[in-house]
Amino acid sequence: MHEWIARHVWRSRAESAPDKWRRLSFLLEVDGDVAGSQDLKASDFPQLRIVESASWLGERFRGTGLGKAMRAMVLHFAFQALDATAAETESEEHNDAALGVTRSLGYQPCGDRYAQRVDRIDHMLWSRLTRERWALLRNGYGLDEVGISGAERCLPMLGLGETR
Ligand SMILES: CC(C)(COP(=O)(O)OP(=O)(O)OC[C@H]1O[C@@H](n2cnc3c(N)ncnc32)[C@H](O)[C@@H]1OP(=O)(O)O)[C@@H](O)C(=O)NCCC(=O)NCCS
Repeated sequence: MHEWIARHVWRSRAESAPDKWRRLSFLLEVDGDVAGSQDLKASDFPQLRIVESASWLGERFRGTGLGKAMRAMVLHFAFQALDATAAETESEEHNDAALGVTRSLGYQPCGDRYAQRVDRIDHMLWSRLTRERWALLRNGYGLDEVGISGAERCLPMLGLGETR
């Protein structure tokens, strides 16, 4: 595993608490190599039940459907194992690949903001996928075959007492 990915995962774990998940990192492995990470973030999740996702794929793995597949997997986890009511994501307006994944999975636009960076201002677009919409659209991703095991042991760390 790349050293910086390991640092990212361990920093995220160390900085996460039940009321603020800095990042729950899920790694995508292709042929034994880490190809990308698909993270979930949340604030006050036990009350709000909303997750936010953040995605990264190594350059050679982009544009082949893996970005959509790994987002679908983490949505499956969020809605099924964590009982989320909605998933949100934020992308810079020119990030066509990230917006492509979001559009393709059926998220709907829900707002925007301008973010001050060191050398520029970015226009960020927000999108939301509700649990009800996911239930209608998730067919076709083969998710009925995808099992989730061991999640209940993590729930107390996430501020969740039990699987709902
Ligand atoms: C964002 C990212 C995870 C997307 O993964 P990907 O594997 O490249 O995307 P996919 O191949 O799964 O494509 C998903 C959809 O987006 C579309 N898409 C992908 N790249 C696109 C592009 N450059 N322009 C337009 N559409 C694009 C695909 O056609 C597909 O749509 P479809 O399902 O209707 O056919 C990946 O490109 C990445 O890691 N980029 C760098 C990091 C980043 O920008 N992260 C997001 C920060 S918000």
